[in-house]
Amino acid sequence: MAHVIFIDSTPTGLNAFHSAHRLGHQVTFIHPTRSSSFVSIMSKDPTKLATQLGHVDRYIEVDTLENEHLFPVLDTLVKENPFDTVISSAETGIMAAARAAEKWGTRYPSPQDLGNAVFKNRLRTTLKNNGIRSPDFEVLNEEELLQGPKKITLPFVVKPIRGFAKQFSAICRTQSDFDKYVNNLKADRANSALIDSVVSHEYIIEEYVTGTLHSAEVIVREGKVMFYATTTRYRAHYYDLLELAAVMPSGLPEQTREEMKAYLQAVFSALNIQIGLYHVELLLTGNGPVLVEINARMMGSVSPIMYQIQTGHDPFEYLIRLHLGEPVEVNDNEFTNAGITLAVAARHGGTISSSFRPEQLEALLARYAIPHNTLNIYAGREIGRYEGNFSIMGHVIILADTPQEVAEKGHRFLSEIDALIGLETAKYVE
Ligand SMILES: Nc1ncnc2c1ncn2[C@@H]1O[C@H](COP(=O)(O)OP(=O)(O)O)[C@@H](O)[C@H]1O
Ligand SMILES: [Mg+2]
Repeated sequence: MAHVIFIDSTPTGLNAFHSAHRLGHQVTFIHPTRSSSFVSIMSKDPTKLATQLGHVDRYIEVDTLENEHLFPVLDTLVKENPFDTVISSAETGIMAAARAAEKWGTRYPSPQDLGNAVFKNRLRTTLKNNGIRSPDFEVLNEEELLQGPKKITLPFVVKPIRGFAKQFSAICRTQSDFDKYVNNLKADRANSALIDSVVSHEYIIEEYVTGTLHSAEVIVREGKVMFYATTTRYRAHYYDLLELAAVMPSGLPEQTREEMKAYLQAVFSALNIQIGLYHVELLLTGNGPVLVEINARMMGSVSPIMYQIQTGHDPFEYLIRLHLGEPVEVNDNEFTNAGITLAVAARHGGTISSSFRPEQLEALLARYAIPHNTLNIYAGREIGRYEGNFSIMGHVIILADTPQEVAEKGHRFLSEIDALIGLETAKYVE
């Protein structure tokens, strides 16, 4: 039996406590309450945390995951009850886990190497220095950004070097897109102090890369890159910054996936990363794969649940076993069907129809045989315009025989739900 410490969590990541218990381990959950915790930001349902705490042996609240708050707690723990690993399913937890690993010698990339992967500017610089295919870019502080890029020309993508839920990011095709972005930036930042505090004030501007968007669900063990899944990701047809759906498996031919794997092996080797579980986004172009970003965490929203339904494997078990130094062998060929995780969001925002009845939604979910959803829809609910991950009504999982079929089925579902709620959902097909 090992002692596994989780720090912060996404709502779906709370399931990892149960996975660790099932593997026979002792579980500690450290929850930052004063800083931006993913559980508090993303979960509208506090009972979800309470339920999963049933699988936790020790629940500890800290103000933040900064060393000054986290390290004394770990220091006390290590004396009473030595731990074997410190891990996180949440973006907010990974750098803290790396700092803890460096101090107490648990398995994790060093803060330096991990930082080169997750800070978008450092990642692009590493790729460039190693001759790995990657768009041209420049890095600007907020003041410089207002003047516009010096080198990169339209169309381009502008994003904080470490962002959150698409806040302060934009794809600019015209000068007027960029002017609008700059005008909104200050007002938007002032609107949410919480988000303002997590999102960096340095920006990267990248050449716009044309291609289809995919993810590779990656495990790196002893420096070797393995895939346990790939996805094809669908973006809003009217604005491709906004992701709406992920189809798993991707439906990409074996040869293309091998090409992606060879590319990502070069990326992780350049980063000097020996271990970890990553959600990697890339664009497939006419010249091959191009990295978008590396997320040093489990795939998002309800995708881990879908993966388990489709393959019978619990991806949180991979994460735990990997960081305990146990053997983990995975491949991306174990799918018996195709699935889509669909974000249900309002294209323009608005109010859910006053004539909406929950039974209608139940009937729709039953008709599509939806195995899992996190929808929170009721008559009169105000829904913000879809701009990132905040304003969504929830996620649904839909299954079908093939990736193509499930993508079409997902679109039909969105069209049908429009009629029920009296709002236009954001769609990936016109
Ligand atoms: N250089 C680029 N060229 C084309 N599209 C891009 C580029 N960078 C990002 N994107 C698009 O914008 C989305 C968000 O960018 P990403 O780097 O993943 O930031 P975030 O941290 O907000 O997820 C990506 O999913 C992709 O669709
Ligand atoms: Mg992304």
